[in-house]
Amino acid sequence: MFETQETGPIIELEKVGIRYGRGPEVLSNIDLSLQRGSFHFLTGKSGAGKTSLLSMMYLWQKPSRGRLSIFGNNVNFANRNSLSLFRRRIGVVFQDFRLLEHVSAFDNVALPLRVSGMSEKEIRKRVNELLKWVEIDRSTSAITSTLSGGEKQRVAIARAVINRPDILLADEPTGNVDNGIATKLMKLFVELNKLGTTVVIATHNENLINEFKYPCICLKNHNLTIVPAGEKIHDMEI
Ligand SMILES: Nc1ncnc2c1ncn2[C@@H]1O[C@H](COP(=O)(O)OP(=O)(O)OP(=O)(O)O)[C@@H](O)[C@H]1O
Ligand SMILES: [Mg+2]
Repeated sequence: MFETQETGPIIELEKVGIRYGRGPEVLSNIDLSLQRGSFHFLTGKSGAGKTSLLSMMYLWQKPSRGRLSIFGNNVNFANRNSLSLFRRRIGVVFQDFRLLEHVSAFDNVALPLRVSGMSEKEIRKRVNELLKWVEIDRSTSAITSTLSGGEKQRVAIARAVINRPDILLADEPTGNVDNGIATKLMKLFVELNKLGTTVVIATHNENLINEFKYPCICLKNHNLTIVPAGEKIHDMEI
């Protein structure tokens, strides 16, 4: 059984390559070390590999070469059970939301808490509070398929953060909302980060990157560079 190491990087990539089938490598020779409690933006032009990198960190796909370690464990040697235990400690906001469309917003957000065995009374309190915060208070019982894109996005965010994951991976989580809500959602991620969650936010939103000064993982030409907090990101890289 795998142990969780509480020291050292929480996610570590060494000479990692990602490819689909027999296609060319989307990302090559990626080295990256994310410290516990860190906060990073992830940028790069459409097709640069942001979603591919996040889905590897979420253990959805394995690297085609190199080493990926998470919570101090090399995932190449992890079995299905261990991978699913690791995944439970990662909150993820998918670019296409991946909500359960036929149940309510409330039930989507409650799901991770129900899996963890929390009482319904406590679940009701926590879920309603968070949905109010992301401004979904009127439509909590609405069937998810009837919500707008921006509402679904906020439900997906609430589901990802409700159980205070060790890692939050969010793929363009503010792509469907206006600037005011985008800033508010960013504040939610900042709060979560202050509680200890390691955060990676993929975004094309230059305003957010400039307003919230965190380092930026930039993907370009199959490679990765880190732009330190507060430094200008070149337009070409967003
Ligand atoms: N399932 C897949 N099968 C084959 N190729 C894929 C698959 N998913 C992504 N790709 C390819 O990998 C490359 C990177 O795609 P990815 O979705 O990671 O980019 P992205 O940076 O997230 O782009 P966007 O900003 O448009 O979301 C693209 O060339 C894409 O065509
Ligand atoms: Mg993407």
